[in-house]
Amino acid sequence: MDKLRIGVIGVSGRGAIARNWHQPQARGRSLVVAGADTNEQFLAEFRKNTNEDAFVTTDYRELLERPDIDAVVVTVPDFLHEEIGCAALQAGKHVYCEKPMAITTEGCDRMLETARAAGKHLFVGHNMRYMDIFRAMKEIIDSGTIGEVKAAWVRHFVGLGGQFYFHDWHARRDRTTSLLLQKGSHDIDMIHWLTGRFSQRVAAFGSLDYFGGSRPNDLRCPDCPELNTCPDAQVPWPGHDQCAYRQEVDVEDNQVVIMQLEGGIKASYLQCHFTPEYFRNYTIIGTEGRLENLDDSSKVIVKTRRRFGPKGLSDRVYEVKPAEGGHGGADPVICEEFLDVVLEGKQPVATPLAGRMSVATGCAAAESLRNDGVPVNIPPAPAWLK
Ligand SMILES: NC(=O)c1ccc[n+]([C@@H]2O[C@H](COP(=O)([O-])OP(=O)(O)OC[C@H]3O[C@@H](n4cnc5c(N)ncnc54)[C@H](O)[C@@H]3O)[C@@H](O)[C@H]2O)c1
Repeated sequence: MDKLRIGVIGVSGRGAIARNWHQPQARGRSLVVAGADTNEQFLAEFRKNTNEDAFVTTDYRELLERPDIDAVVVTVPDFLHEEIGCAALQAGKHVYCEKPMAITTEGCDRMLETARAAGKHLFVGHNMRYMDIFRAMKEIIDSGTIGEVKAAWVRHFVGLGGQFYFHDWHARRDRTTSLLLQKGSHDIDMIHWLTGRFSQRVAAFGSLDYFGGSRPNDLRCPDCPELNTCPDAQVPWPGHDQCAYRQEVDVEDNQVVIMQLEGGIKASYLQCHFTPEYFRNYTIIGTEGRLENLDDSSKVIVKTRRRFGPKGLSDRVYEVKPAEGGHGGADPVICEEFLDVVLEGKQPVATPLAGRMSVATGCAAAESLRNDGVPVNIPPAPAWLK
């Protein structure tokens, strides 16, 4: 195969990641040759920004029928991942699917089975595994510096939560199941990756305390008389400007999960969507010390339990250089990894099993918090996947 020929389904928003795969230069390994989207304006922008000669269609099935497409990037809203991902695999395409893999555990398992039956790669876009700050944390943990990992404490302050998660499909359970999947599948996956273990049992509490309310579902920010005074008014953004205080909003906007992982590791995770700042704070504790990121991208502190010797040796600060590219430099790297997987047979850092386990954990946590916090066991992954 000369270059991997890629079609993108869902070309705006996250679909912009596909520009990394359009590599017409001699040494490039892939080309973006097609796009599908229900919105024709987005398709026109996609051709302008990615490839003027790309085939475009408003029906993704037409894209899947094309024999000149080897792989498909699925960047549509979460509730469509299973349908479109399975259809693409059945059409004989390799699939890069955005996280979360699907909005149910059963949906993930169906996608995994479909990939196995088709003999095609299914890659899930857990790009946090490719961010330098978290790679640095993983390296330090794996070096044994903090000893055997026993506990994790993760807080996700989702500043701009209203802007990104409450003005459109993200705010509906039938579209996401829960923001513990939609947003939290990233953090749950990172807890699994950094500790090296998957969750087995969870309990959770959460509620909708700030967003949602009694406004009509068809109220849109540009038409609202409170446009200039509302703290959560959305700048004009077609498809993403429904009122954040409308009736149909039914996902929780703040939630706490306690997790029991394999090997007796304990973790707790808080996600809140009405915080002033955007920040992920990860603390991992081992038998010899602990580490923590001081901000989203540049500093990790490590403290070890040295009883003897100079204290200076026990506390260290690691500076991580800024990286270029979307999501802290992760997006260009994960795109190359997808090519390595398909073209070179590499085992990915973000495995399909991990994608499935983060959804299964998020679904179990959502079930728990909607049932008075009763603990819920995570259904094990299909045996063949291990
Ligand atoms: N890994 C990350 O860092 C990251 C970041 C943002 C979004 N995402 C994921 O990417 C996905 C898309 O998110 P988004 O915010 O771009 O969503 P979005 O609502 O902006 O939709 C993306 C595109 O899908 C198109 N679309 C919707 N229904 C379609 C259909 N039936 N057929 C074809 N196209 C259709 C929309 O018109 C839009 O162009 C989500 O699953 C989200 O979780 C991941």
